[in-house]
Amino acid sequence: MGSPRGQFSSRIGFILAASGSAVGLGNIWGFPTNAAENGGGAFVLIYFVLAFCLAYPALMAELIIGRYAKSNISNALQKISDNKATKTVGKVAGLYGITIATLILSFYGIIAGWMIAFFLEPLFTISGLSAVSNWLTHSGELRNLLFCALFILLTVGVIRAGVEQGIEKWSCRLMPSMLILMVALIIYVLFQDGALTGLKIYLVPDFQQISNPKLITSALGQAFFSLSLGVGTMLIYGSYLSPDENLPAMGAIVTIVDTSIAFLAGLLVLPALFVAQQQGLTIYNEAGSLIAGPDLIFQTLPALFQGMGLIGIPVSLVFFCLMTIAALTSSISMLEVPVSYTIENHGINRHSATWLIGGLTFAISTIIILNFDHMFDFIVALTTEYSQPLLGLMLCIFASWVWNRNKLLDEIRKGYPKVEASIFWKIWPGYVRYCCPALILLMFFQTILNS
Ligand code: PHE
Repeated sequence: MGSPRGQFSSRIGFILAASGSAVGLGNIWGFPTNAAENGGGAFVLIYFVLAFCLAYPALMAELIIGRYAKSNISNALQKISDNKATKTVGKVAGLYGITIATLILSFYGIIAGWMIAFFLEPLFTISGLSAVSNWLTHSGELRNLLFCALFILLTVGVIRAGVEQGIEKWSCRLMPSMLILMVALIIYVLFQDGALTGLKIYLVPDFQQISNPKLITSALGQAFFSLSLGVGTMLIYGSYLSPDENLPAMGAIVTIVDTSIAFLAGLLVLPALFVAQQQGLTIYNEAGSLIAGPDLIFQTLPALFQGMGLIGIPVSLVFFCLMTIAALTSSISMLEVPVSYTIENHGINRHSATWLIGGLTFAISTIIILNFDHMFDFIVALTTEYSQPLLGLMLCIFASWVWNRNKLLDEIRKGYPKVEASIFWKIWPGYVRYCCPALILLMFFQTILNS
């Protein structure tokens, strides 16, 4: 059978790994652009409320189930069920989650590949190889395939080494580096002309937007994607956590780190947009809203860096390095989901399982790249807008309706003996049983109506 289960060797190792999973392109790209599109500060406010009131309780459900079951999402949902019907539902939901994690990785790998290409571009520009740098920054199938393959190889390299030597070691190296790069960039950008206008748009809420259903569904989708919920990533990281750890506190720290870094990213991206405007670049589209999506990251910002002259080269290097690191600490958690399943359920060793799933993911990415216009947006919507909230709903239902409440309490008690007297225990069980499913469903239907 498979190798013995890994475990995080330290508390900080878990925190950095789980926060690394949470902090990714969703934070640095998704959050600021969503804020720009949906009323700036109003979005930020609603996002924080949803992150703590909806995403945190769902995150706790994953962490607790994972640590109790010590296995992948499919086995874990079966383990906490005690009748045949719920076991079957658990198995199917788990397998669906594993498939969605793999699909997310296959599109995430394509975007992360672009980040590597844009990271390399200034290096070729200063070497005088402008044909290469031109190729790197212009969309093409060959470029997309090569850099996606490179990124998936990096992800495979980390996951192959296991929980402690791969996930934990690399998260501990990459997360602090990412934070340092980010803070340095924010300081630099905030001192440029025009930055304060962007800061104002970001931080001053446009309260008229607060009841806009699109704002609320975007904020919910963003919160679920950002906390890596529903697909079993947090569940599998929870399964590698020592029983001595206080789960509600761990979950709270991860939520705080994730939302704080999203907030910091807004301090970087929106002011940078207005610095670009100051330099004469167009930052509003034809419909009159701020440029978001790929155009922002792959056109406006690179044009801004280019306009900065020599200093633009290190600024661009740092920015795309930051993006690549953030993507990598998330992609390793996505790959771990199908890999742990393959190890635990098919008795394949980690080395072979990682190569196998890495290869399969790249095959799916290749299909998406070759049919980009038809498939890319569809896969993103299928996985993040529809599947993640529904799977999150399923996990809340399993934790609160299917699982035996005493066993659940015993699991939390292991690292938190006084849990019964805590405010967490007074609120969370009922909340995750009634409020979370109702709110997720409500917003899910809102998403369907909006689409
Ligand atoms: N949380 C990651 C981000 O913000 C994305 C992610 C989704 C990671 C699902 C794992 C699982 O970019």
